[in-house]
Amino acid sequence: MLDLLVQNATLPDGRTGMSVAVLGEKIVEVGARIQAAAHQMLDAQGYLLSPPFVDAHFHMDATLSYGLPRVNQSGTLLEGIALWGELKPLLTQEALIERALTYCDWAVAKGLLAIRTHVDVCDPRLLAVEALLEVKKRVVPYIDLQLVAFPQDGVLRGARGPEQHINNLKRALDMGVDVVGGIPHFERTMADGALSVRLLCELAAERGLRVDMHCDESDDPHSRHVETLAFETQRLGLHGRVTGSHLTSMHSMDNYYVSKLLPLMAEAQLQVVANPLINITLQGRHDSYPKRRGMTRVPELLAAGINVAFGHDCVMDPWYSLGSADMLEVAHMGLHVGQMTSQAAMRQCFDAVTVNPARILGLNGYGLEAGCNADFVLLQARDPVEALRLRANRLQVFRKGRLLACAPVWSSTLHLQGRPSSTAYIA
Ligand code: FE2
Repeated sequence: MLDLLVQNATLPDGRTGMSVAVLGEKIVEVGARIQAAAHQMLDAQGYLLSPPFVDAHFHMDATLSYGLPRVNQSGTLLEGIALWGELKPLLTQEALIERALTYCDWAVAKGLLAIRTHVDVCDPRLLAVEALLEVKKRVVPYIDLQLVAFPQDGVLRGARGPEQHINNLKRALDMGVDVVGGIPHFERTMADGALSVRLLCELAAERGLRVDMHCDESDDPHSRHVETLAFETQRLGLHGRVTGSHLTSMHSMDNYYVSKLLPLMAEAQLQVVANPLINITLQGRHDSYPKRRGMTRVPELLAAGINVAFGHDCVMDPWYSLGSADMLEVAHMGLHVGQMTSQAAMRQCFDAVTVNPARILGLNGYGLEAGCNADFVLLQARDPVEALRLRANRLQVFRKGRLLACAPVWSSTLHLQGRPSSTAYIA
């Protein structure tokens, strides 16, 4: 006897009338119209059943702190970093944990069940590291949380010399942080940025860890740290285990140079996270008109065979005042900024918040196939493009066969003579 049988679902690949059979925590069969007894039956009514959303780039230590201690007036990345520096001494562990847990509640309700979050390691108390390690433990039943040791103030920019932040970062890794981070474009010089990439990749190689670096998050067309990241990945044999996040300078780079860079990134199996909501607002702030969009070259990266995900990056923090853990909103913005409007490109945008980030995190048992974890989201949409158009309602969210969240069907009642009595925005 099955524990759960989902029937009449549409899958992201377009198959309709599909059943998903669950025994315990696992999917045991996916097929057309499976007939079997189950403790629980779920009629998907033709709606889209997707594997859960995954966010490959977030800052959970800063989330829900908007307005503390003040609001970012210029809207720039640099003022955001300065503001975070003002907030850091005021942080308490209880408040960090509470805000992060609230965000995780939102995430579950939106079907977002795996998050890679950067955590600042420049505070010698490592308060945020301790808090997020505690959060990681508490949310294990419902969210896979992966932590990146992120030297927000520059790993080589410690006031007491370069060892200061490096030692903090190593301590964070010793405490159980999963991934090595970095911020080469914020080091004092281009040379220091390149040195930081080398040192941090070597540290990851020594410890057998993955790397995820904030890289070239600027409008500087001459920023070259992604080239160094690809080179070090290749040199140290870290293929497939290194991610470059943001890469916004690629937006402004010379086209000839990019034509050389893309194959180098592909050769190193570098993975990429673009953060469209954040970079469309942070970048181009020093431009008059025309204003650059400041998102990395997503369609071109995908065409070069490079795995690209869209990340949320920020929600209600020093860098961004909006957001609600909705990865469809993230993908919706990515689609617009990248002009990814063909049917195929829109489906790539859906992949960029599901299967692509799952690869970046290296999630085991992710997907809608026999043997995978019984983790899925039933969306009030009939296919991925409609899900993006509507930023669709999450009707049911399951993790390991257990219902975590549900919401009533969205529909607006109409009071119009001669017209239908309601609409759900479906033509
Ligand atoms: Fe970030």
